[in-house]
Order: sequence, then C-alpha cells, then structure tokens
Amino acid sequence: MFIQTTNQKSFNQLQNDWHPIAIAAVTLPGTMQSITLLGQSLVLWCDDNNNFHLWLDQCPHRGMKLSLGTIQENQLVCPYHGWRFKPSGKCSYIPSLPQLLEDNLKGCVRQFKLLVKYGLIWGCLGEPVGDIFPYPEFDEKSRRIVFCGPYDLAASGPRIIENFLDMSHFPFVHEGILGDQSKMDIPDYQVEAFSDDIYGEGIRATKCFSWQPKASKKSNQPELVEYAYRVVHPFSAILNKQSSGQSSTSDGLADAISLHLQPVEPTITRAWIIMALNDFEHSEQELREFQDLIFLQDKSIVEHQEPKLLPLNPDAEVSVVSDRLSIAYRKYLKTNNLQYGVINHLAL
Ligand code: FES
Ligand code: CO
Repeated sequence: MFIQTTNQKSFNQLQNDWHPIAIAAVTLPGTMQSITLLGQSLVLWCDDNNNFHLWLDQCPHRGMKLSLGTIQENQLVCPYHGWRFKPSGKCSYIPSLPQLLEDNLKGCVRQFKLLVKYGLIWGCLGEPVGDIFPYPEFDEKSRRIVFCGPYDLAASGPRIIENFLDMSHFPFVHEGILGDQSKMDIPDYQVEAFSDDIYGEGIRATKCFSWQPKASKKSNQPELVEYAYRVVHPFSAILNKQSSGQSSTSDGLADAISLHLQPVEPTITRAWIIMALNDFEHSEQELREFQDLIFLQDKSIVEHQEPKLLPLNPDAEVSVVSDRLSIAYRKYLKTNNLQYGVINHLAL
C-alpha cells in the first residue's frame, strides 16, 4: 500500500492533487478501463452522453471489481450479482430483488473528482487544492498537439522527472540523436524560482545549450539547441527547445514537450507526454515514434537507479555544477513537503 512507504504528509498532498489518467479523445462512450492511482484501484468509464466517471473499482455489494463488468443501457453492471449502477453512481437495479424500487436501493459506488484539461483526463482522490498548472504552449496556433505514451515504468516519479531535467546524459543515453560524444560539455545555465500569471509557479532553467545530432524528427543537420525547462508540479515538467539564435520561425525548431506522471505506486509510474510542436510535415505516428525511441532509452536508465526513491538529503548522492537543475528540483520537492517515497532515506 502506498501509504506505508511514503510519509503521511506527502500522501495527503498527492491525494489532493490532480493526476493524469487517460487521453480524453480515446476514452469513448460505452467503454471503461481500470486505472491505478496512488495505490487505489479505480474504474474510469464514459457514458452515452460522453461524460466521464471515475469510481472506486469496488462494488458496494461484495467488493467485486466493477471494471470486469459491462456497460448496458448506459449503466455499469457488476459481473458478480448483476447489480446495476447509473452514471450518478447510484444502484438502480438488483436482479435478485427485482421488485425493489430504485428509490429504496441504497447501494452507491464511491466516486472521485475528475476534469479534462490539455486533452487528458485528470483525477483526484481527495479534495483538489488548486487548479492544474498553466501550459500556454498547448493553445498556441503555431503548434500542433501530439500525445505520446502512456509509458509504464518501474521507477519512482521524482527519478523520472529528474531525468527529464538532466542534459548531461544526452551523449550517453541518446547518442547520435540528442547527444554527441565529441561535444559533451554543458555550459553554465540559470536556475530560478518563478511565479507569474502566464506560467504559474515552480522552478525553471533557461539558456541551457546542447549540441544535438538530430534535435527533432524534422532536423536534418546537427545544431546547437537552446533548452528552457520548467517544473510546474512535483510530477509535471515542461521543456521548450529551439534552434539557438532563432525565434519560433516555421523552419527553425520550436518544440514544447511536457511530461506528466501518474503515480501508480511509489516505484511504479505511468508517464504521459503532450508535445506542442511546430512540425506540421510529419505524421503523428512518425512524431510519436521519434519520442517513443527517446523515452524508451530513458526508461532503461530510470528503472535501474538505486535507491528507487529519490534521496533528498544533499549528501546522499554526489552532484556537480551541471546538475544545478536537478539539485533545485530536489530542493523544490523538499520545500513543497513532498518527501515522496524517501522515508527510508531521511529521518522524518
Ligand atoms: Fe457486485 Fe454483488 S459484488 S453485485
Ligand atoms: Co533522456
């Protein structure tokens, strides 16, 4: 159980946050799927009116998994004794007592909050404390949206976000694509906390330069690429990359890639990527395949780091100047009281 390996405060905070659980456009009327969020089994289903519902995946009668049932006449039917539940969650019919009127039935499935934003469905197990962070690139007309994933990883969320923020692995993990072993140095870059109306708040790094053999699907020559990263939630980070010295022209690279994590268990994570690209030439499939290749290279790293849970104690791992953003991310987790999954490594 999640709560046994992370501390109570972190768990409560995560419980009251929004987490991505599905892509809205492919969650079709009359379908359901089982989802795990923070160790909790849930069923997400879409009714005939295209409304989504996020329920505890547990029938109030004898605890059967509702996600193994069926949807009939816009109601979810439990596979064990056939109780039927309306989109409101209320039981409407019990086959063994067909004479009972709906008003006299008390069974009701436990429901959780959800919302749709940036094309994803986000769920919250508790009481949401705030909105989902801003992602203004999502609405820019000069970009197209491509969803990647979900990717399932046997790794903790903070290890995955930290890897996303890390540039010095490019020549090793993504050699020939995002990195070149003849140009490996990382020039100094800026890291700061930010808070504004456009981007929300968090930490960001700017003016990060990287020499890349193939910076994107459409790149056809090596180039110096400028990155800007921002962390907007402990489990959400966004990067912008552009050809250095160029603004977002149609020929130059100007991509935003955002990574959003669904914490399944402390060391099991489902990752969602929303790309906002200025590449209108390639098919979605080609763009997705390019990102899949990179993400699978990262997966092979983050699944093999020890300890699995990110240590926030500054002495636990050795850092250097080029790790400045990762150090800032660890501090950010600490100041947000999100000592997620580190109970074994810190005296809390
Ligand atoms: Fe669901 Fe009995 S357990 S109807
Ligand atoms: Co990588």
